[in-house]
Amino acid sequence: MVSGASSTGKQNNTPNNHHPSNPHPRTKSMSKSISSSSLFTSFKKHLLYIPLLIMIFAAFFLLSISSNTFSAIGSDAVSPHNYVIEVVNEFPHDPKAFTQGLLYGGNDTVFESTGLYGQSTVRRVAIQTGEILRLHKMESSYFGEGLTLIGDRLYQVTWLKKIGFIYDRNNFSKVKSFTHQMGDGWGLATDGKFLFGTDGSSTLYQIDPLNMKVIQKQVVTYNGYEVHNLNELEYINDEVWANVWQTDCIARISPKDGVVREWILLQSLREGLLAAGRKNFDVLNGIAWDKENDRIFVTGKLWPKLYEIKLHPAKKELHGNIEEICMPKRFVFGTHS
Ligand SMILES: *[C@@H]1O[C@H](CO)[C@@H](O)[C@H](O)[C@H]1NC(C)=O
Ligand SMILES: *[C@@H]1O[C@H](CO)[C@@H](O)[C@H](O)[C@H]1NC(C)=O
Repeated sequence: MVSGASSTGKQNNTPNNHHPSNPHPRTKSMSKSISSSSLFTSFKKHLLYIPLLIMIFAAFFLLSISSNTFSAIGSDAVSPHNYVIEVVNEFPHDPKAFTQGLLYGGNDTVFESTGLYGQSTVRRVAIQTGEILRLHKMESSYFGEGLTLIGDRLYQVTWLKKIGFIYDRNNFSKVKSFTHQMGDGWGLATDGKFLFGTDGSSTLYQIDPLNMKVIQKQVVTYNGYEVHNLNELEYINDEVWANVWQTDCIARISPKDGVVREWILLQSLREGLLAAGRKNFDVLNGIAWDKENDRIFVTGKLWPKLYEIKLHPAKKELHGNIEEICMPKRFVFGTHS
């Protein structure tokens, strides 16, 4: 079943407005009743109620604390946060790899898909050394794009063609090819069951890997505005993380409604490469997650480094210009370039 793209893009603004009932009136009335003379006239009767009153009071007290805590967390969760990164490790990365797909491959390796005509590959790379452990060269008419793994099968899409390939993860032998229903082939990821895909537009597709049919699509939005140029993807802890083409930003998308909840700002990586005198590297692209050890890796097209990063909440509020930094206008590729 194909559900229509949600185009409203309205942020799901359901802040927790359940203020805890104010315990103070209760406290007042209680102390009033305690100080009233009736307490002394029928002392025995009231004595029975005192433990009950204490329990009620305690329950209200605890409830007010926990609902205060809850509402604080709840309102934080709906206001978008931005993250900056800390590089915890950097590794060599093939500066000729035009990275279009990246995922963790177990045993301290990544699977990577690279683009450019005549240079497109699928490879397994040792993270620590950058050594290519296995390489599949694609036919020169194909431009490799997003890559993901379900079980023993690597799924890869290609640029400007609706054709993709399935490979055996162990020997990269081609199991079969497929056609898909996206506008183009850019990014791929999986939650282990379904594929998520992008085609350079603002649409996040959910695809059944058994027949490659689109089962759902979402328009990805931030503050109600479409986020275009969605590129390489990774599925991390129930979120879809997306590189936004031509930016140093990663959008953390809720796959439920397509809303970008948070942004990760990685400008420091480009700045670091430039400061080190590196030239001729292309855009940030490629996110891989080692679930077992909770390690996040990022790289870019023709980048000489693969970085292991950690996130820290950005101290400076960037709400005003996140659109400028992370949300370029839609770019539409015409015909073949
Ligand atoms: C990791 O390497 C070991 C030993 O070579 C191998 O048995 C295992 O299957 C590998 N695991 C993965 C996920 O590749
Ligand atoms: C690749 O490995 C799979 C098992 O993972 C095997 O079934 C298949 O025959 C192998 N293909 C080649 C060409 O060796």
